[in-house]
Amino acid sequence: MLCLLKYRKEKPIYKFLQLKYYYNANIILTLIYSYAILKLEIHGNDVLDSKKRRKNTMRQVYLDNAATSRPKPPAVWEAMENYMKNIGCSPGRGGYECSLEAGRILLETRVLLKDFFNIPSPEQVIFTQNITHSLNMALKGLLKKGDHVITSSMEHNSVVRPLRNLEKTKGIEVDFVKCDEKGLLNPQLVKDKIKHNTKMIVLTHASNVTGTLMPVEEIGEIANEEGLLYVLDTAQTAGVYEIDFENLGLDVLAFTGHKSLMGPPGIGGLCISRRAAEQMEPLIEGGTGSRSDMEYQPDMLPDKFESGTMNTVGIAGLNAGLKFINKTGLQNIRNHEKQLTERFLEGLKKLPGIIVYGPGDPELQTSTISISIKGLDMGELSFMLDYQYGVMTRSGLHCAPLAHKTIGSFPEGTLRFSIGYFNTTDEIDYTLRSLKEIIDYNLS
Ligand SMILES: Cc1ncc(COP(=O)(O)O)c(C=O)c1O
Repeated sequence: MLCLLKYRKEKPIYKFLQLKYYYNANIILTLIYSYAILKLEIHGNDVLDSKKRRKNTMRQVYLDNAATSRPKPPAVWEAMENYMKNIGCSPGRGGYECSLEAGRILLETRVLLKDFFNIPSPEQVIFTQNITHSLNMALKGLLKKGDHVITSSMEHNSVVRPLRNLEKTKGIEVDFVKCDEKGLLNPQLVKDKIKHNTKMIVLTHASNVTGTLMPVEEIGEIANEEGLLYVLDTAQTAGVYEIDFENLGLDVLAFTGHKSLMGPPGIGGLCISRRAAEQMEPLIEGGTGSRSDMEYQPDMLPDKFESGTMNTVGIAGLNAGLKFINKTGLQNIRNHEKQLTERFLEGLKKLPGIIVYGPGDPELQTSTISISIKGLDMGELSFMLDYQYGVMTRSGLHCAPLAHKTIGSFPEGTLRFSIGYFNTTDEIDYTLRSLKEIIDYNLS
């Protein structure tokens, strides 16, 4: 590692690349990574050779579960393989056996989701590509010219960007209620923003930057008292926390399949109340396999919002992910992640110069932890953790610039560790040791 640091620091490209992590941290990191690998390949015998990345033999610790969960339970890819090998037909498009079998997978998964989130009926579960798609559908389909919408300053860009676009193009008014420096939202501030044309509250269940949990029950009460539509982004909580659609009084529960629901990428969805389904315009229209005589989009659920051939292979994977969670127990998953979060937070306290963003309390946050270290660049730290120790993290702004402005880490961003169900105590301790070595070397 000493070699690598010295080598990199004397190169002009190192200084150049340091400049603008926040514009696109991933591209910059990819460039640094590619550059380092290229140097290894071109100068097989140069200074880096003796310190060649130990990737093949080195242990790997995946701590980017807030981006996507990894690994997936084997049952997930087995179910997908089974669909591809033995079924492979389009659901709702034919009366032959494999098409019926594909339809059965869809229906069974809708029922699994209905039970999982306590949705009144399975047709209120709509499949999409991911939660970004679901949130776009809800925001663009429900908000009309002149409406006012309230959200928080901890939202992901999948809420912020559609809202900013609607503000600009459709004259929708948006209020971003400021959370405190730990990302905590005061429900009273939301209440204070309500006015005559307020139509909706849209909120993330937990921040993808700090893990801060939002007061979703209190906000649900406010929305219900005031007769507002209530849209929840569960990207960071579904599959770890109990989320009860009926109890929370939700109109739209948006979910993504590839994070803690353990499914593959490319599958997500939304669960929708009857009143929201009536008001919501579909984002796309087309073939549904039903009412083919009609030139207009059918009104019935889920067809109104599900046009085009479904991602049945993704749904088969999500189906297996949900069964895995049900078998393991949501509480066991949460307890495991909470225990590791506690251990990691305690360990961080013993390291010099670390700033932990967010509550720093496993009761008030998910297993996502953001840090910065005075005197160190977080993009480089993320690179070194991976390159030298095999610890995978994410640095930068995490598609949530407003959240970073709220917690005071804009524009540099933070280094994010996000723990998942398959992480172990040993991996947490190894990560803490790796961090310590880097800090000791760089800051001593
Ligand atoms: C809070 C939050 N909302 C939305 C998203 C977008 O998820 P997807 O890329 O699956 O659409 C993410 C992804 O990180 C997220 O953390």
